[in-house]
Amino acid sequence: MEQTRLIIAVDGYSSTGKSTVSKRLAARLGYTYIDTGAMYRMVTYRAMQEGILRDGKVDDDRLKHALTAMRFDFKYNTRTGHHESYLDGKQVDAEIRGLAVSNNVSLISALAYVREVLVSKQREMGREGGVVMDGRDIGSVVFPRADVKFFMTASPATRARRRYEEMRATNETVSYEEVEANVLYRDHADSSRAASPLIKTRDAIEIDTSETTIEEEVEQMLAVIHARHASRD
Ligand code: DC
Repeated sequence: MEQTRLIIAVDGYSSTGKSTVSKRLAARLGYTYIDTGAMYRMVTYRAMQEGILRDGKVDDDRLKHALTAMRFDFKYNTRTGHHESYLDGKQVDAEIRGLAVSNNVSLISALAYVREVLVSKQREMGREGGVVMDGRDIGSVVFPRADVKFFMTASPATRARRRYEEMRATNETVSYEEVEANVLYRDHADSSRAASPLIKTRDAIEIDTSETTIEEEVEQMLAVIHARHASRD
């Protein structure tokens, strides 16, 4: 018998390893992985590129207009084994992961009209189930009735070190202090914004990644998912 294809929500602070475990979970389950953070990053990138965001100020009318035409796609590259993000058909992973976009993305993701457009696209992408979606508001807003909800945490120092190593690996010249400041700033901005702040819903299962390996986390999460399957099928 074919198993029900579930909606799995993975929320949490930045650099807790959400995207790494979500990709592995999706691969193990044969599900699609959707990186909603990349969508907020793509909007930020486009706004910076077109001068819609300048010196910390956003031209709301122009951004609303630009949003109506933006197309977001995710592809799994079987040759490289990487998940790729496309904005209007162009791959933009390197551009959207840099510090310039990271420093501005909280501003853009706090805008209610941006969230409205992206949430509606995310609901459409996950409508049929069989998805692992990672973000900040997946279990609270995008899919409040998701089949399984995880909430990932880790100490700020662990997260800053991970992010620093990740950025150094892509040859971006940044200092550890800059990365740590960005992690702390985004924690505060994500949790305190008025529009869909980051919260752990009561039905979310917390996964603390400070002391565990990725493999351990994935196994722990798969056990929860299999138990949920067993109660559904
Ligand atoms: O997961 P990430 O670090 O790539 O996300 C980038 C930013 O986008 C993050 O600072 C918070 C925001 N974000 C959000 O507000 N809602 C989501 N569902 C995903 C990300």
